[in-house]
Amino acid sequence: MVQSSRIAIIGAGSVGTTIAYAILLQKISSEILLVDINQDTVRGQILDLSDATFVASTQIRAGTYQEAGQCDIVIITAGAKQRPEETRNKLIERNYEILKHVIGAMKPFNQNVILLLVANPVDVLTFIAQKLSGLPKQQVFGSGTFLDSTRLRLKMAETLKIAESAVHCYVLGEHGDTQIIAWSSAHVGGKPLIDFPEIRKLDKEKVAQEIIGKANEIIKLKGSTYFGIAGCVSSLVQCIVLNQRHIRPLSTFVEEYGCIFSMPCVLGNKGVNRIVDVYLNDEEKEKLRKSAETLKRICENY
Ligand code: 2OP
Repeated sequence: MVQSSRIAIIGAGSVGTTIAYAILLQKISSEILLVDINQDTVRGQILDLSDATFVASTQIRAGTYQEAGQCDIVIITAGAKQRPEETRNKLIERNYEILKHVIGAMKPFNQNVILLLVANPVDVLTFIAQKLSGLPKQQVFGSGTFLDSTRLRLKMAETLKIAESAVHCYVLGEHGDTQIIAWSSAHVGGKPLIDFPEIRKLDKEKVAQEIIGKANEIIKLKGSTYFGIAGCVSSLVQCIVLNQRHIRPLSTFVEEYGCIFSMPCVLGNKGVNRIVDVYLNDEEKEKLRKSAETLKRICENY
């Protein structure tokens, strides 16, 4: 799938185009389609991005929704973005209407297509996309708490003065205010993260609020976030295209909790191969159950 992988990005805003640029630099796709309702925006972004295609053997062009539905991977970023101090769930009504239009316009799908939801609230929109697309659940998932987990891993790595890749920790549940840090399964070099003196002295609740609040902090300073999510999504695309089967926290249907939110998933070229039931202590499980109840109440309306 490497050389012939065709990737569509729905939404030519700062998130969608930064993802396009990140994928371009990875040289893992033969063609990237950019789709948006605003034709001038798409044209401007394509003209600019095409000046960078010399670095890769990837063509990039404006596409239609119908063409997008025939691609190997469709990344859905289209939607209103959070304003400062606004929760992601405030975006549901506006972004539900956009998603309904986008999925309807892409049908009939290439039956093997993978839909990767990025727009917020990503967990609810992933639930809706699974329902509206009719595609197998494993092929429709969201970026979920992957970005939150990379934010946590960065903080832990800086605290311990070690490489981020050496820190194995997850933020799980909702990509939002009810997410949890799975401290009890986090480790570095096989040693529990919380056994490191530098970590033990941290205020865990303060760390959790810092990770939850990072998006809002960035939005207040520069209007929106896009580099972090683009780095995450381009690495997910690489994992799919190269069938790397990395484990990533992704928004998917979790039987045990009866809802769609993030759990560690094995990701390959067919989508989510399986969920890894990571060790969680009773407190973490109870918090996830509360997170699931919140999301289920919201999803009941769609
Ligand atoms: C983020 O966490 C806004 O969900 C986006 O950066």
